Amino acid sequence: MNSLATELNNMLQEQTPAVYQMLSKLGREMYMPKGIITQSAEASEKAHKFNATIGMAVKDKSPMFIDCIYGNLKMFMPSDVFTYAPTTGKMDLRKAWNEKMLKENPSLKGKQFCLPIVTHALTHGLSVVADLFCDDGDYVVTPDKFWGNYRLTFNVRRGGSIATFATFNNENGFNVDGLLATVEECGKLKSKVILILNFPNNPTGYTLTPAEAAKLAQGLKKLADSGINVVAVVDDAYFGMFYGDCMKESLFALLAGSSPNLLAIKMDGATKEAFAWGFRVGFITFAATTDKDESQTLAALEKKVAGNIRGVISNCAHPSQTAILSALRNPAFYEQRKENVEILRARAMKCKQALSGGKYDDQFTPYPFNSGYFLCIKLLKADSEKLRMHLLNNYGVGTISTNSSDLRIAFSCVEVEHIEELFDIVYKGCKDLE
Ligand SMILES: Cc1ncc(COP(=O)(O)O)c(C=O)c1O
Repeated sequence: MNSLATELNNMLQEQTPAVYQMLSKLGREMYMPKGIITQSAEASEKAHKFNATIGMAVKDKSPMFIDCIYGNLKMFMPSDVFTYAPTTGKMDLRKAWNEKMLKENPSLKGKQFCLPIVTHALTHGLSVVADLFCDDGDYVVTPDKFWGNYRLTFNVRRGGSIATFATFNNENGFNVDGLLATVEECGKLKSKVILILNFPNNPTGYTLTPAEAAKLAQGLKKLADSGINVVAVVDDAYFGMFYGDCMKESLFALLAGSSPNLLAIKMDGATKEAFAWGFRVGFITFAATTDKDESQTLAALEKKVAGNIRGVISNCAHPSQTAILSALRNPAFYEQRKENVEILRARAMKCKQALSGGKYDDQFTPYPFNSGYFLCIKLLKADSEKLRMHLLNNYGVGTISTNSSDLRIAFSCVEVEHIEELFDIVYKGCKDLE
């Protein structure tokens, strides 16, 4: 049991033993990690200069948004706002997201997948997938640089056993061999393996190159064909924020239909890619193949998801679904989104420039990044948590410590003209701690 959970349990036992006795097994194991949310809350109090902690995007001290979402909120019909939405989401929204997926992932054409099912954003979608596929002791394979919330969703809530591999290889590329070896190893111990892949990645900001993606997809197909049941969860939270020489389609498009033993699951959210964090609109899409009838498999899975949604939250909020649908129907959507992505691209390029000059190399070096909201630096001397606290308390700069050597920087929240200064301060902070 996590020590934070034990701490809470001890407190309850001391204060109100009866309440402790009432808790379920999951209730006893539950805790709030001292992760991004806690670090970011500290930063919102103290990071008066730069707050590069949270996975949102900021411009001119205000959240970035898209006019075609914001402008429409007052214009909707009461029936599109106040009534219950269907359990699996508004049908027109599901169709519109499907169209968007096909437009942005041409390789999906001709493949069998279900209409995206609406969730209360990505975290909820991931928890639905965990409920349906993850049992006590099941292996959940993911790169060692992963979004920490997978731990609560798959490990704490469902008892999955997280098995990681080094994210990058010696050539500073994605460690496809490590991934395949870990899936194979786990597959020998248990015939089912859940794999979570997230590109653009949180925290590193890395997306696979087309060659890495092809190698990964071929390798996974081979493992699945050899008899390992692979649940391949593709977390596309930051889809579309591609700045470099990386794959511009989802890995889901390559995995879909590749083996009868591989179930590909695409997790989407308007959250990050449509700059609508508080709306809580996400999607789950399954792709399966069989020599029988895929459509029946997909329909059965959709019903299982519906049952899970019904039993946990009944249905997802209707006004946000209406707002996102209206944005997707607005011809300005892609152009407006592109404007924001271009701002993020300029910041990413500025980060690359600042980090490539050798100026900071005795204290930190970046991990590869080419996409998303974040980058991660590897600290060569300083302890990451000590540095984070030092930067916050002495310079008013908020960052996220993801482990003892890595610091995540959300360039999505720092204006381009401040980026060099931000790295200068991080460098100075490292020097102070020497
Ligand atoms: C990789 C990844 N997946 C999922 C999420 C959760 O997104 P949502 O806010 O839609 O639940 C995040 C949020 O930070 C994330 O970084």
